[in-house]
Amino acid sequence: MRRIDDDTSASQNQARSGSDQLPCAGKGPVLATAGPPHVAIIMDGNGRWASARKLPRLAGHRRGVDSVRAIVEACPDLGIEYLTLYAFSTENWKRPMTEVSGLMHLFRIYLQRESAQLNREGVRVRFIGDPMPLPPDIQRMMRSLEETTRHNVRLTVSIAINYGGRAEMVNATRRLAAKVAAGEMSPVDIDENALRRELFTEGLPDPDLIIRTSGEQRLSNFLLWQAAYSELVFAPELWPDFDREAFARSLARYDGRNRRYGAVAG
Ligand code: FPP
Repeated sequence: MRRIDDDTSASQNQARSGSDQLPCAGKGPVLATAGPPHVAIIMDGNGRWASARKLPRLAGHRRGVDSVRAIVEACPDLGIEYLTLYAFSTENWKRPMTEVSGLMHLFRIYLQRESAQLNREGVRVRFIGDPMPLPPDIQRMMRSLEETTRHNVRLTVSIAINYGGRAEMVNATRRLAAKVAAGEMSPVDIDENALRRELFTEGLPDPDLIIRTSGEQRLSNFLLWQAAYSELVFAPELWPDFDREAFARSLARYDGRNRRYGAVAG
């Protein structure tokens, strides 16, 4: 078991909580094991959270932003260095127009209101996916936040917007084909590392753990290449209910896993 107080990378974080315990309402404090370096999350269940309260689906997405904030804040204390969040997939354009435009507006508000705070907290923000179909003002805000935070090292948050794992691989293949056509490389130079370098996630380590909330058990086109050896945890909580304690429970489930990467147990 890896505890946050014996982890070098965690101890290098600028703003540790000073405690290795997480408050767990009603159950007394629970020991916080350190998270793995890279956690990715499929934030699912906003619609069901809202329907259960007879609220419009957007109310669930709005509450989902509160969970985003709470989980981003929790990561450095847990020694997590990379957090990747699935905010909008290439398939989500099929939702009703009011929901799509409502989600775009939520991204806009999030970028306007939280950029300064993220920067103050030492968070580097990057976006993965194809930004071109997004409203131009949102694209500008995304570029500006990436630029402002590019030297931050406390936590890297990658937000997947208009992201699809298959589209990412098609895009990478096209870029490699263009290099071959231009005579910059030969087909025999195309190996896993060459392809990896053309992915939106270039420079990020593969996720150690992928959490999907709401009890659904599928990847939905998220990080298909990068998930090759990720551990998967399907958390029962709906995303708006996914707080620090729920996060700690998912991390504890990961902690019990034995990762072998195709080899035999040591
Ligand atoms: C999936 O739940 C959730 C989404 C498609 C949107 C996720 C967006 C947010 C959490 C808010 C904004 C995010 C950022 C990073 C600012 P669902 O709507 O499919 O839920 P359901 O399966 O219950 O219908």
